[in-house]
Amino acid sequence: MTTRLIILGATGSIGKTAAEVIAAHPDKVAVEGLVAQRQADRLWEMAQTLHPRWIALTDAEAAVALKTRAYGSSIRVLAGLDDVLGVIADSPSASVLAAMTGFAGLLPALTAVNRGMPLLLANKETLVAAGDLVRQAAQASGAPIIPVDSEHSAIFQCLALPQPVRRLILTCSGGPFRGWTTTQLQDVRVQDALQHPNWSMGNKITVDSATLMNKGLEVIEAHHLFDMPYERIEVVVHPESVIHSLVEFVDGATMAQLGWPDMRVPIQVALSWPQRWHLSSPPLDLVSRPLTFEPPDAARFPALALARQAGLRGGIYPAVLNAANEQAVAAFLAGRLPFLAIATVVETVLEGVRENPAVSQVEVVMAADAWARRQADAIILRRGGVT
Ligand SMILES: NC(=O)c1ccc[n+]([C@@H]2O[C@H](COP(=O)([O-])OP(=O)(O)OC[C@H]3O[C@@H](n4cnc5c(N)ncnc54)[C@H](OP(=O)(O)O)[C@@H]3O)[C@@H](O)[C@H]2O)c1
Repeated sequence: MTTRLIILGATGSIGKTAAEVIAAHPDKVAVEGLVAQRQADRLWEMAQTLHPRWIALTDAEAAVALKTRAYGSSIRVLAGLDDVLGVIADSPSASVLAAMTGFAGLLPALTAVNRGMPLLLANKETLVAAGDLVRQAAQASGAPIIPVDSEHSAIFQCLALPQPVRRLILTCSGGPFRGWTTTQLQDVRVQDALQHPNWSMGNKITVDSATLMNKGLEVIEAHHLFDMPYERIEVVVHPESVIHSLVEFVDGATMAQLGWPDMRVPIQVALSWPQRWHLSSPPLDLVSRPLTFEPPDAARFPALALARQAGLRGGIYPAVLNAANEQAVAAFLAGRLPFLAIATVVETVLEGVRENPAVSQVEVVMAADAWARRQADAIILRRGGVT
């Protein structure tokens, strides 16, 4: 059977890797639509090889350039988020690969889930900010949510049979600054933070990996995906990124999924599940490179604990954490905030939360997100940055 696929965030790192997987299996996946924010040229190039029925940019100005490029073509061009939400809602038999960066991915993902469409989820911020809401919507519509994040894909694969679980153990590379002292971390430059030791990814998730916020977001993501209490989700640093995560069952037996760090695997698993498709990749070599493990350094990388606490508090706290982090990471990437201040900004914004309503409506999470961004911007400004 051919899967009809809509890719949100098509021009990004996940979108590009997904395009490779699709090109290797043209008989199994037909691309329905491609969505990006403003990279018109790149989206148009992808359209030439993936042959979607429609393409869309959420930035209306960039969409004008795309329309000019596509003039005379049979591919329909859409402009702006509302058009994207409309066309997703009109395509209930398609699957959606959610690979936009950040909170911006929430509304399209939620639209797909509300329509009962399978959601192949890379955009972890969607579940972090509005996990309860998305889960309720998925339960009501029957939409399956299949993880694409490599750690959660590993757990998903280990849980192929429904068996009682004691613990989930998420592995974490430790990022580029594993073992660095606080003094060294004070001088981190943007280009240092963008050098991930094992994975090539977009800038935001790469910085999150350097602060360990990424692992914190993944703890919240795992809580929602696998309905697992936070106390039973652990993190272990595994610098080689060969074991992608583990599941410990109630009898102590522990299953792991291993492989070279290669996002083609979890993307393809999400597309092929419960089958597996061929993928040419070098065989795993367990002899030449020892696998090592250590605990995360909570003192130097406080973001991990901040995320766990936000998850435990629930309500709007995870959305506030996510929004403050997005603002702080953007300021760091723009050279307006030091690396160590990212976690400080997030912590200060979380401390300012006065009421904690349940996230049962999308308006609640939108308001929490907007409030947290304003708070974070104000703190960054006071520190001398410019927003
Ligand atoms: N990269 C990985 O290996 C990896 C692994 C696990 C999970 N993830 C998750 O997957 C998501 C994407 O990561 P990435 O590394 O692929 O990011 P990326 O390379 O920065 O790409 C982001 C994509 O999202 C699009 N986008 C951003 N804001 C948008 C908006 N407002 N409207 C429409 N499109 C928007 C971008 O479009 P433009 O190019 O037009 O700006 C681009 O296509 C993140 O949530 C990340 O945490 C990534």
